[in-house]
Amino acid sequence: MPRNADNEHHWHTIAQRYELEPGPINLENGYFGRMSREVRGQYLEHVAFINRSNSLHVRQRFERGENDEIRRQLAGLIDAAPEAIAFTRNATEALQSLIRNYNRLQPGDQVLISDLEYDTVKGAMRWLAGYRGVEVIELSHTHPASFDSLLQTYRQAFEQYPRLKLMALTHVTHRTGLVMPVEAIAKAAREHAVDVILDGAHALGQIEFNLAQLGIQFAGFNLHKWIGAPLTLGFLYIAPERLADIDPDMGEFHYPATDIRARTPYSTPNFPALMTLPLVLQEHQALGGSAAKGARVNYLRDLWVSQVRPLPGIEVLTPDDPRLYCGITAFKFVGRDQQVMADRLLQDYGLFTTTRTGAAFGTCIRVTPGLVTSAADINVLVNAITELDTL
Ligand SMILES: Cc1ncc(COP(=O)(O)O)c(C=O)c1O
Repeated sequence: MPRNADNEHHWHTIAQRYELEPGPINLENGYFGRMSREVRGQYLEHVAFINRSNSLHVRQRFERGENDEIRRQLAGLIDAAPEAIAFTRNATEALQSLIRNYNRLQPGDQVLISDLEYDTVKGAMRWLAGYRGVEVIELSHTHPASFDSLLQTYRQAFEQYPRLKLMALTHVTHRTGLVMPVEAIAKAAREHAVDVILDGAHALGQIEFNLAQLGIQFAGFNLHKWIGAPLTLGFLYIAPERLADIDPDMGEFHYPATDIRARTPYSTPNFPALMTLPLVLQEHQALGGSAAKGARVNYLRDLWVSQVRPLPGIEVLTPDDPRLYCGITAFKFVGRDQQVMADRLLQDYGLFTTTRTGAAFGTCIRVTPGLVTSAADINVLVNAITELDTL
């Protein structure tokens, strides 16, 4: 087992770095992550400092080099050049900026989304119909998904829709935690001259990847899910050789057109959050980075899924192919109202999960362990599902 993933003592020590509100066992760590005590402490100090110093520090220090250094460190997280990334406030802003400003579409072209994309991405891609005069192709993935079925669905779409120019692809879908075979899909897309905008919101910090190796030129991320940053931080990535294919945002002029920072709305950012980022990145690496975090949440996921999948009234929706899953997994109580069952998990067993809707397979219950989740917490979940399954 890599990197202490099953070492409860090791992860208990790490969990001590985070402050928890008393209450139910939180198995909905997918919404956003926690800052450690140290990060929270530094963030609050920065809030107080910026509140005292106001624009003085920002204009004299932050904007004269401090921000460049923070950007350089962030670029290092994904092995990119600083010139290939620009800060945004979240993944949505990054992805919508890419979709809105992608300038290679002509009226009559086609763009592609699937049922597993995030809703704000679906919305932006559908909006292109009116804005750019394109046809939006919406496909539903077959269920249960396999590596080949996912790839085949895209291959078929590329064959069937010859005017496809652009597609959105979600690295880790927020509904079931399914990990898309991005490299294979991007390769097939490239063969059909289809550009891919990658939604990396849930992948960053949980999965190790390299955008160049994946064959991805456009991507959006946030830093508040698995990296451990304060809320309100995200960034977009554009491969430098493709910068000209994304227009400056709404006539943006603060940066030259050759600067990626012109691709996002220019606004006053959360300076204290940005100033805390170096510590966040340092902590992420010290924990072992995405490899260690991912291995831990995968271990916890395997622990419950292996015991629950064989139960007669349970359908685990996320496949067990190691290429296709991460720490997030969704399931159903077959033939039952999923919201009622999620409420029972909370009320009767003190387990907080969330339901997700919008995929072709219907409503599901999503379970997302976090860095503070223990194997004992997972046992409570297994016992609860086992008991509820017999009722
Ligand atoms: C797959 C996916 N994409 C995009 C987003 C949006 O991220 P943000 O809230 O940072 O805009 C989320 C948020 O949950 C997500 O799960």
